[in-house]
Amino acid sequence: MKLIVTETYEELSELAAGMIAQAIKDKPDLVLIPATGESPVGTYRALANLFQAGEFETGQVRIFQLDEYLGLEPDDHRLLGGWMDRMMLEPIGIDPAKTVGFTSNSPDPAADANAYSAALQAVGGADLVILGLGPNGHIGFNEPPAQADAPARVVPLTPESVISNAGYWGGADQVPRLAITAGLRDILGGRQILLLVSGAHKRDILHRSLTGPVGPETPGSFLQGRDNVIVVADRAAWGDEPTPPALAG
Ligand code: F6R
Repeated sequence: MKLIVTETYEELSELAAGMIAQAIKDKPDLVLIPATGESPVGTYRALANLFQAGEFETGQVRIFQLDEYLGLEPDDHRLLGGWMDRMMLEPIGIDPAKTVGFTSNSPDPAADANAYSAALQAVGGADLVILGLGPNGHIGFNEPPAQADAPARVVPLTPESVISNAGYWGGADQVPRLAITAGLRDILGGRQILLLVSGAHKRDILHRSLTGPVGPETPGSFLQGRDNVIVVADRAAWGDEPTPPALAG
C-alpha cells in the first residue's frame, strides 16, 4: 500500500484523475469499478476535463457498479447508479446502458449479487477499483463486520452509513436501509485499487484503516499490506504527521 498525501482536495482530484486516465490509456478495455459519493466528485470532474482534452478514449472501457440502494424505483433520483451515470459515465462518454449494474427494485437481489460476481469473474475481475472510505471503515457497502472474502451481497446499512448518506439526500429518512454491494472479495481482487479520502471528518477512520488492526471491524483495513493499493488523501484527512515509512511506497 502506498499513501500519497496532497495539500488540497483539488490536488487529490487532479492526481487521481491522471492515474485513472493513465490506466485507461494503458488498457483501453479496462474493467473499472467506480465509487459514488462525495470523495471522487472532483476526480471525476478532472477526469472529464482530460477526456474533453482528448487524453484518452472510453469506447472499450467496461464498468461494474460498486453498490446500490435497494427498494427504490428505477426513476428515483437517489439511485447510486444514476449518480454514477451523471457524475462519471456520461461526462467521459460511456454509455450507461453498457455497464453491469444492480437493480434497485429487483425481486431477487441475492440472485443479482451472485450474477454480478459471476459476470465480474467472467471478464477476469476488475482492473481498477476506485473507492471512498465510509465513516465506519466501509468500502463499497461492506459494512462492518465484513470478512475479506465476503461476496457481492445484500447488506443492511449501519446507522453510521445512514447518517453519512443523509447528507446526500437531505435527511436520514430519505436514505434506504438496505443496499447491494460488490463484496470485499470482488474489490480486493482488483488488480489496482485507488482509495480517495478527503476531509478532517475522515481522519480517525483513515488512520484506523491504514495503520490499525486488520480485521472485519474495519473493512478498509483489509487494504493494508497489498502492493496494488494507492491511497490518495488530502492533508485535512491525513493530518500533519509524516507518512509512515511502510506507506511511503
Ligand atoms: C459509494 C460507496 C461508499 C462511499 C463512502 C464514502 O459508492 O461505496 O463506500 O465511497 O461511504 O462516501 P463519501 O465519499 O461521500 O464520503
